[in-house]
Amino acid sequence: MDTAVIGQEILATCERLARHSDDTDALTVAYLSKAHRAVAAELRDAMEAAGMTVTVDAIGNVVGRLACGRPGAHTLATGSHFDTVRNGGRFDGRLGIVLPIALARHLHERGETLPFDLEVIAFAEEEGLRFASTFLGSSGLVGRFDASVLERTDAAGVRMRDAMLAAGLDPDGIGALRRDPARMLGYYEVHIEQGPVLLEAGEPLAVVTSIAGGLRYQCTVTGVAGHAGTVPMAMRHDAGTAAAEMVLALESCCLADASGTLVGTAGRFEVVRGATNVIPGECRFTIDLRAAHDGLRDRAFDEVLAACRAIAERRGVRFACERTMQVPATPCTPAWVDALADAVASLGLPARRMLSGAGHDAMMMGREMPVAMLFVRCGNGGVSHSPLETMTAGDAGLAAAATLAFWRRLAH
Ligand code: GLV
Ligand code: MN
Ligand code: MN
Repeated sequence: MDTAVIGQEILATCERLARHSDDTDALTVAYLSKAHRAVAAELRDAMEAAGMTVTVDAIGNVVGRLACGRPGAHTLATGSHFDTVRNGGRFDGRLGIVLPIALARHLHERGETLPFDLEVIAFAEEEGLRFASTFLGSSGLVGRFDASVLERTDAAGVRMRDAMLAAGLDPDGIGALRRDPARMLGYYEVHIEQGPVLLEAGEPLAVVTSIAGGLRYQCTVTGVAGHAGTVPMAMRHDAGTAAAEMVLALESCCLADASGTLVGTAGRFEVVRGATNVIPGECRFTIDLRAAHDGLRDRAFDEVLAACRAIAERRGVRFACERTMQVPATPCTPAWVDALADAVASLGLPARRMLSGAGHDAMMMGREMPVAMLFVRCGNGGVSHSPLETMTAGDAGLAAAATLAFWRRLAH
């Protein structure tokens, strides 16, 4: 396999997909937007050109199948998501779809078959941008789709169920998507590292040992709105300053963690109906809390919650929060971790093992079947969830070579 050529092809495809966006000045692809459907159509074409049989399932996942022709063969699923965060990067998710499509084409053109059926799954949604519905695509495949999210509305008031019907999808068919674990070999995902570890180490690839578990909450602080000029400072119940103090409590809690794996973020922070000359009456913010171990993460959340309640009481405001996501930490399958490390080493590369702080579709798939994940070096200081996210064609080619070597090891 010419890794330089395949690497360039992978990068060129990611660039091409990035032309589709909901925003004119940034890469944003929300579930079932026009850009999202255009990306799905391009992926479908690319899978067909690679010799795969393609279906679009009830959730909008684009699934390409390369059958090996052996009766009773098991299926190896591989893939990632093609939705993005707001103002996201070109490789987050897409690399894990485009790379196996390029490999499938390589195998198909050479007439080489694997001893298992290969399924490349382009998951329609993982980031939770439009409906706060993280892991939508993969949850359906492991029978863990939460039907209550169908009633959620986006910022424009559109219900998810209606958006799906308008896109020709079948919300009532999601229950039938579950893959029978007895028929599956497992799930493998290639993903850009989204951090600086490999870049700093000067290494192109790493094998993921475990994926940190995550919690997300939507918090609301309700105070008393008032005139910014007339209410004395000591007589205010300012929802904005209360929320700010709560976010600082979240930060202090995570900074105090000795394991170095506890991370907390308030990525959305909004004064509702805010105005320059009005004391904030209501403030909404999100909490995203992750750690290598669920116990650590849950204890940290209890501590943050207690701090928020104490701040609310002292400041005379109300505090409420609602959980929007909880996923357990997911260990990768030890035998697969070893086989993948062996595949990376077979290329003469260091086979570093590391924890993933980012969430991935592998977390859902890992609930039902063996999983492995390969990380690929991120350029530009390791920045991701940003338009500055980048990687090299050389690294993409190495990731493709390691992936093929891993698949061949699975075959034995
Ligand atoms: C997904 O990218 C996440 O880890 O938030
Ligand atoms: Mn992401
Ligand atoms: Mn991702």
